[in-house]
Amino acid sequence: MNDNINNRGLWRSKIGFIAAASGSAIGLGNIWRFPYLTGENGGAAFVFIYMFFVLLIGFPVMLAEVSIGRNTQRNPVGAFKKLAPKTHWKYVGILGVISGFAILSFYSVVAGYALGYIFETLFGAFRNVQTAQQTKLIFGEFASNPISSLLCLSLFLFVNGIIVYKGVEEGIERWSKTLMPILLFLLIFLVIRSLTLKGSLEGLNFYMKPDFSKVTGSTFMNALGQAFFSLSLGMGTMITYGSYLSKKDNLVTSVSYVCLFDTLIAFIAGLAIFPALFAMGLAPNEGPDLVFVVIPSIFSKIPGGTYFGTAFFILLVIAALTSTISLLEVVVAYIIEERGWSRKRATVGASIISFLLAIPSALSGGIVKFFTKLPYYGGDFLSFMSTVFGSYALSIGCLFIAVFVGWRWGVHRASQEIANGNPKFKSRVLWHFLIKFVSPIAVLLIILNLIKSSFF
Ligand code: PHE
Repeated sequence: MNDNINNRGLWRSKIGFIAAASGSAIGLGNIWRFPYLTGENGGAAFVFIYMFFVLLIGFPVMLAEVSIGRNTQRNPVGAFKKLAPKTHWKYVGILGVISGFAILSFYSVVAGYALGYIFETLFGAFRNVQTAQQTKLIFGEFASNPISSLLCLSLFLFVNGIIVYKGVEEGIERWSKTLMPILLFLLIFLVIRSLTLKGSLEGLNFYMKPDFSKVTGSTFMNALGQAFFSLSLGMGTMITYGSYLSKKDNLVTSVSYVCLFDTLIAFIAGLAIFPALFAMGLAPNEGPDLVFVVIPSIFSKIPGGTYFGTAFFILLVIAALTSTISLLEVVVAYIIEERGWSRKRATVGASIISFLLAIPSALSGGIVKFFTKLPYYGGDFLSFMSTVFGSYALSIGCLFIAVFVGWRWGVHRASQEIANGNPKFKSRVLWHFLIKFVSPIAVLLIILNLIKSSFF
């Protein structure tokens, strides 16, 4: 520890936290992962269950994380050390920092693909394609080229590093405030285009009219896991962002806005994708390739599609960037405060390590056989990282955070923290019940289900 702690930044305004935390939450999770999971899990019913979980589990856990952050004014590791000194709880923070590195690595590879696709689309790679099969080939070729993959990855990590290096108010807050409205504007533009396509009604039905007969146990688990991933919970992102909040801020309203915006953007992303998808006669269950294979083939058949497509991938990169800023910030805040490095050194060091960690994921698109089909696991390295850290590690992190606030730190002390800036805190009793019982039990169920579906 050193006096960097005394020089910690603070959000300049209430909007600063909401913009940055929404920026963290809104990302590839909303625009790429949410639509493809919705497609695979039967459409509207999944959307309905997902929203239920955001409200019942995501919201209380986010409030817990933010209150830990503001109370301790520390990075995740420092926060647990402060609230439970000389215990093993700090390992929950350490798991968060490790998850931050790991998620940043594979996430940046996908973001790098999006970055590359801005240029692919703009320079007309999809202008003459007729079928989704052709776009699949183009993506396969693109993802298996190690030079372009690594180049896009490094460019993305470089920009990300520069923003984080600028620090809390200068970098993160200003960028999020500018980028988020552009994102919303572009998405609404895409929705309008999508809904005016011939045959879009069928897609709208699929997305809005629930068919509960397709719901299984794994639908629930996918929805719950997606809620954590999308809300950036379980690795201390919200502890870190909450640590830059002032005592005057109302945590309940700030967290409500973040959950609302995140859910809204995911919902709007689906509204942009499904009507167009059905209009083009494509199947909704395309899987993780959805964005890179299906979207370009949709745009290739729309007048002006080159520009719509380019706009879409710019949007995807913007959304990813405001999420990776938060991933890197967790790691950087930890290195500065616990290891005493300067912000510059911490940012450069963490970015280089993330780049090295990302190389196997970047090569998992085809060139190196070992990384395309891992022994035992069977899948490629990127999806391995996504499963282990995006699902397992975040779920374990959320479980421990809920147990910590519910039972170790205590809901009463946490509530006192929340009452700063919100003296009445009306839903106190409900929140106590959710964080002590509902969240830990539900998260335990996800973990058990993940283990069951992976090994049996
Ligand atoms: N929530 C981000 C998204 O939806 C991903 C993320 C997960 C960011 C965990 C930070 C921490 O894209």
